[in-house]
Amino acid sequence: MKVLIADKFDEKGIEDLKSFGCQVTCEAKLSGDSLRDAIAKTKCEGLIVRSTKVTEEMLDGSRALALIIRAGAGYDNIDVAAASKRSIMVANCPGKNAVAVAELAFSLILALDRRLVENVNDLRNGKWNKKEYSQARGLKGRTIGILGLGQIGQSVARRAHAFGMDVVAWSRSLSSEKAENLQVLRCTSPADVASSCDILSIHLPSAPETKGLVNSEVLNRLAPGSYVINTARQDVVDYDALCNAVKTLDLRVGLDVYPKEPGATAEDFLPAIIKAKGVIYGTHHIGASTAQAQMAIADAAVEVVRVFCETGRVQNCVNLRRRGDASCTLRVRHINKPGVLAFVLNAVRTDGINVEEMENVICDGGASACAQIKLDQSLTKAKLSKIEKGHDGIIGLTQSQLTKS
Ligand code: 3PG
Repeated sequence: MKVLIADKFDEKGIEDLKSFGCQVTCEAKLSGDSLRDAIAKTKCEGLIVRSTKVTEEMLDGSRALALIIRAGAGYDNIDVAAASKRSIMVANCPGKNAVAVAELAFSLILALDRRLVENVNDLRNGKWNKKEYSQARGLKGRTIGILGLGQIGQSVARRAHAFGMDVVAWSRSLSSEKAENLQVLRCTSPADVASSCDILSIHLPSAPETKGLVNSEVLNRLAPGSYVINTARQDVVDYDALCNAVKTLDLRVGLDVYPKEPGATAEDFLPAIIKAKGVIYGTHHIGASTAQAQMAIADAAVEVVRVFCETGRVQNCVNLRRRGDASCTLRVRHINKPGVLAFVLNAVRTDGINVEEMENVICDGGASACAQIKLDQSLTKAKLSKIEKGHDGIIGLTQSQLTKS
C-alpha cells in the first residue's frame, strides 16, 4: 500500500509501515496545493496527517485514496463530509494523547494559581516581590468542573483527585453509574457545572452539537475569580463572551487553542483574548505535543494501516453510517463457486432494491459459503422462491426483518 505522510511523524512509525510492505512518502511540509499535487502524484491509498488541512479539492486529485488517518484525536482539519461522498474512510487515534493534554491542562491550572508567568518574568527583570506572589489560593479542596468526560476529561479528573480536588462534570453521554465509578458529581448541563466549580476545564470535541456551547450564559454562572481552561477546540467556546467574562468576572484563563490559529509553521499571531487585561496564559496548541504522546499516536496510526492492509477493515473509522437504510437481511447459503452471488445480486437489482451491506464467509473445506446481504427493501415470497430455484449453486435462502433501533 502506498502511504503519504503529510506531517511530522515518528521515525519508528515510518519504519514500522515499511516493515509490512508499505511504500511510504513522508513530506512533513505539504499543505494546500502542494498536498493536493502530492496526493495526485503519489497515487497514495493512505494519507496520514496531523494538523494539516485536508480539503475537498485535494480529494479529487486521485481515485486511489481510500483512507485518511488523523494522527491525533480531533479530526476537524479534515473535510469528512467530502471524504464520505467519495467512499474515503477517515480514522483517528483517540485517547493516545489524553495524558499529554491532561498534563497541559494541569500545567495551566497550576501556573494560573501561582501566577507563574508574571512571577518568573518579574524575577527575570530583576524584581523581587514575595509579598505580591504569596497570594496563591491553592488547589486542595477546590472544585474542578469538567466539560466532556472522554479519555482526556477522565485523565484530568484522575489528576484532580490526586491534588485533593472535588470533581463535577457534564458530558453528553455521562450516566450516573459512570459518574459514580469515576468519582465525579454528575451535573445536568454545562451551566450547572459552571455554577458548581472554581475551575472550568473544557474537554469536548469540535462538533455541530458542541459549537459555542461555552457561551455567555455558561460563563456568567462562574463565580468571580474562577479559572477557565480550554485545551480542547476553540469553536466550543465563544471567545468574545470569554473576553467579556474576563472583564466582568475577573477570570483567570489558560488556553491552548484559538480562533483562526495558524498551523505548524512559525508566524505572527496575537489573539484578542491573549491581549485582554488579566491573568491570561496561552500556549501554542501543544497539548498533544509530547514525545510520549506522538509515539503512541504513531503506533496507533500504523495499526490502522496494518489492519486495513490485512483485512480491509478500518479501525476507529469516524465516517461510517451508524444506522443505514437496511430493513432486512438476505441469508444466502451457497456453493462456493463463481457466479452464484452475481446471480442473486442481479435478481435483487432488477426489483430496484439496493444492497446496503454485504458479507460472505466460506465454510471450512471451501466447498460452501454463506452471504449475508442487507437490503433496503424486502423481497416478496414469490421472488425469494424464484431466486432459490433459479441457480443450482444456491443451497438455501432466507430473509429476516431488521429491527430499527
Ligand atoms: C488532537 O486533536 O489530537 C490535538 O488537538 C492535537 O493536535 P495536533 O496533533 O495538531 O497537535
